[in-house]
Amino acid sequence: MSIHIKSPEEVDKMRVAGQLAAEVLDMIGSHVQPGISTGELDRICHDYIVNKQHAIPAPLNYNGFPKSICTSVNHVICHGIPSDGKILKSGDIINIDVTVIKDGFHGDTSKMFCVGEVPDHAKRLIRVTQECLYKAIDIVRPGCTLGDIGHVIQQHGEANNYSIVREYCGHGIGRIFHEEPQVLHFGRPNTGTELREGMTFTIEPMLNAGSRYTKLSRKDGWTVTTKDRRLSAQWEHTLAVTADGCEVLTRRHDENL
Ligand code: MF3
Ligand code: CO
Ligand code: CO
Repeated sequence: MSIHIKSPEEVDKMRVAGQLAAEVLDMIGSHVQPGISTGELDRICHDYIVNKQHAIPAPLNYNGFPKSICTSVNHVICHGIPSDGKILKSGDIINIDVTVIKDGFHGDTSKMFCVGEVPDHAKRLIRVTQECLYKAIDIVRPGCTLGDIGHVIQQHGEANNYSIVREYCGHGIGRIFHEEPQVLHFGRPNTGTELREGMTFTIEPMLNAGSRYTKLSRKDGWTVTTKDRRLSAQWEHTLAVTADGCEVLTRRHDENL
């Protein structure tokens, strides 16, 4: 087991990458409208990251992933592949997951968007999933354990009658996209690795309206859906553990974190 502790200089670089990733989500929001394709959303983000930010979209060619962002619509849990044939319609919910590399370091963040008018039950799933992320961020400080993080997420999600996806998790991040440790979104208090100042990792809970079970597309090898085809939501931030808490490296300007 080797969790890389970042120096203050490395955290500075992670902050730059994190802020670029957050800016991509801010930028793309106004484009998420009925009638646009997820392929077009991918092109807009790709061009912005490459030409305006002079950064690298980390998903592109990562283990063979063919696009620059992930777009996961409705019952797609994560790793949805943008496509020109997938046109958004009013009532859809979509997660857009952006990871950029700047000066050798990664920033990874995702948020949910509502397309046109979305039913209240979908809005509630989105809200509770974001609350899970925020409750987890609230407890991050040196001495807190990974089990504590998983526990608060599982507790709040299940208290609201949602299920927690177990097959995919948050992760350490730095020069490497996915490094140790694995950050599970379920668990027991006071178990697992203790957090230390200088650790950088993501928290990215996925909550399902129905059962927790997942299905990986045999056709494209990437798209993860709910087995029962009911809705799923996800939010993600990249964090750095500080002396007395944490810094949300991918914080957006509309967030009070
Ligand atoms: N951004 C995703 C995460 O949160 C990973 C996407 S990997 C890809 O870890 F290859 F699907 F892009
Ligand atoms: Co991630
Ligand atoms: Co991500």
